[in-house]
Amino acid sequence: MALRLRAMRRVLKPTGSIYLHCDPTASHYLKLVMDAIFGRKNFRNEIVWCYHGPGSPRMRQFNRKHDVIFWYNFGKSWTFNRDDVRVPYKDPKQMPRRAFDTGTSFDPEQIEAMRNRGKVPEDWWQHRIAVRSKTERTGYPTQKPLGILERIIKASSNPGDIVLDPFCGCGTTVHAAEQLNRRWIGIDISKFSTGLIRDRILHNFKYLNADDIDMRGIPETVAEARDLARSDAFEFEKWVCGYIGAEGMFREPGEKGADGGVDGVLKFFPVREGKKMKPEYAIVQVKGGNVSPDAVKALHETVRRYEATAGVMVCFADQLGTVENQRVKATFRDAWGSYPVIQGYSIEALLDDSRGLDLPLYGYKRRGARLM
Ligand SMILES: C[S@@+](CC[C@H](N)C(=O)[O-])C[C@H]1O[C@@H](n2cnc3c(N)ncnc32)[C@H](O)[C@@H]1O
Repeated sequence: MALRLRAMRRVLKPTGSIYLHCDPTASHYLKLVMDAIFGRKNFRNEIVWCYHGPGSPRMRQFNRKHDVIFWYNFGKSWTFNRDDVRVPYKDPKQMPRRAFDTGTSFDPEQIEAMRNRGKVPEDWWQHRIAVRSKTERTGYPTQKPLGILERIIKASSNPGDIVLDPFCGCGTTVHAAEQLNRRWIGIDISKFSTGLIRDRILHNFKYLNADDIDMRGIPETVAEARDLARSDAFEFEKWVCGYIGAEGMFREPGEKGADGGVDGVLKFFPVREGKKMKPEYAIVQVKGGNVSPDAVKALHETVRRYEATAGVMVCFADQLGTVENQRVKATFRDAWGSYPVIQGYSIEALLDDSRGLDLPLYGYKRRGARLM
């Protein structure tokens, strides 16, 4: 962490700021690290983000429902757009006393103007967590709410500035930055996050095309995909899941068991006559090497065990023959057609975007009403 923070200091503009989010189990250690790297005098705020949320109540202590965000800068002056982050006063009594010093009676117009202008927020923010928001939820386990990132970016940068998030996860920072007309760079060690962010950005900002997003460090050719499959099977799996829009299983490397051999789960939306559209699920299996006949049969078994609608075997094109020969030939239907219960999908198709999966309204929620 210290190395990454030093690298951040190196690239920070003189008027720039760094915000470090952590939870209270680490915040006291990280503040010392931040003091050492950015200097105590450059500490601006410790923002306490409070929320309600799920979690089992603790019997012998208070429930932990806040996170900590440290704000530091590293120059003599720093951007702080106080007027862009004002929030309305809820209660006129909270307003500065000057508003009332106009005589014995209130001046209603002045009070209204003050109320509209609002106040600069305190250093504690109440904001719901992202999983509570149907419109924001991506399925990424540590997703942060957009509102928090928007406030930070508005306060400490101007349109056209560059926002960098070196642990960008599902891309909340880059989403907020794009929305606020900033340029952005996201970095994440997980290859799952790259595909997820690409989808998230293309879905939310229709003026952008895939080519507008410069993706680095992920396979662009079949040879690179094979290299990744050979060198890190787990990251290969996550990269594929992120790209086809499947929710990964978020296992630790090497961890087996609870996932039951499921590498990812895809949501799609069959159109059934006279029925409200409800999501159904396809189990995703990713194979970077040979696909054995048993693996194809096992996928069908997994689909049955989890009561999913379909199963997708993602592999290199030279293995598709085995999938085709060994798969059960059953199909399922919706109002628009019929689809194979078990299907193969090649890394080659994934890379050149030539063909989507044969599932109804797949990608509908992620990318808008786009059929793949
Ligand atoms: C707490 S999450 C960030 C969540 C993010 N703010 C969002 O809204 O999705 C931390 C992220 O850091 C990534 N990460 C962990 N170690 C890393 C490293 N050494 N370099 C880059 N990213 C890393 C993880 O993959 C994870 O996505």
